[in-house]
Amino acid sequence: LRGGASSLTYAAEWRGQPVAVKVAPPGLSPTRNRDVLRQARIMRLLADTDVPVPEVLWEDPGRPPERPPLFVMSFVDGTSVEPLFDDRAEATTQIMAERLRAAARLMATLHGLAPGALRLSDEPVGAPRAEIERWCRVLRTVDPPLVAGWEDVAAALRAATPTPLEPVVVHGDFRLGNLLATGATIKAVLDWEIWSLGDPRVDVGWFLLNADPDSYGRTTPYTGRTPSVEELARLYARSAGRAVADLRWFQALAAFKSAATWSLIVKHNRRRTVPDAAVEAMVPALGRLLELAARLSA
Ligand SMILES: Nc1ncnc2c1ncn2[C@@H]1O[C@H](COP(=O)(O)OP(=O)(O)O)[C@@H](O)[C@H]1O
Ligand SMILES: [Mg+2]
Repeated sequence: LRGGASSLTYAAEWRGQPVAVKVAPPGLSPTRNRDVLRQARIMRLLADTDVPVPEVLWEDPGRPPERPPLFVMSFVDGTSVEPLFDDRAEATTQIMAERLRAAARLMATLHGLAPGALRLSDEPVGAPRAEIERWCRVLRTVDPPLVAGWEDVAAALRAATPTPLEPVVVHGDFRLGNLLATGATIKAVLDWEIWSLGDPRVDVGWFLLNADPDSYGRTTPYTGRTPSVEELARLYARSAGRAVADLRWFQALAAFKSAATWSLIVKHNRRRTVPDAAVEAMVPALGRLLELAARLSA
């Protein structure tokens, strides 16, 4: 199944039923975002909640690095489309708009779960400040001209870091591209690669960045036809039952994080024998994302 670089996802059949299998890349130690069994753990913990996730059916720690760890999960029917990024029309405009609204409400449901009730009290907590540093570490490893000026953006973010909220389960990459939906109904939240306990607004800022047609400036069948960022933010706040302070800063952090993650993807792509032109085409967006982050954090 199409996807990212830190783990591999396969469609398969297992004991007579369709499944999806997540495998860490072989040859590398399965730590941090490559630790696929950490994904299985949170999915198991969420199984009895109102947050839909595929059912984890089997786990194998393997013998890394040669034999990577993997887990097997139920195959959930549905599509995962990022309406303002992917150039694919898989639902009507109205259905896609409802999907975005459903996603905003579901994100509030996720953030409403008490970590203690999920037996996550011992899990380390990440503060917004640590989020900045995490993406700085990534930015230090890429070709500097790709992301010129990122240090200034990091400094502006540091100077205005809001007080953290009570930690909750943060997905880390919550957007329609990581949800499976049929019609307007969200069937499963996928891709728990970078979940953590932390400030819920990290997810909100990221979700809103991806729901804003100006972030990546792409033209898709849904451009200009999705609910506004303001509407989605209001919907989230209403579902969460509280006002969401300092959202602008978290949108800035999201733009900064996107510049960091995309610059890493560009770096890896350039090392390939045949680089993907679509990835290289993201290069001009990196500067724009940093400008956006600077504007929002000022
Ligand atoms: N349990 C599942 N059932 C059906 N499809 C899945 C399942 N898990 C993943 N997929 C499909 O595989 C794609 C990639 O999976 P994802 O977990 O988002 O990994 P990544 O984006 O890191 O490659 C998803 O967009 C989805 O289409
Ligand atoms: Mg994904």
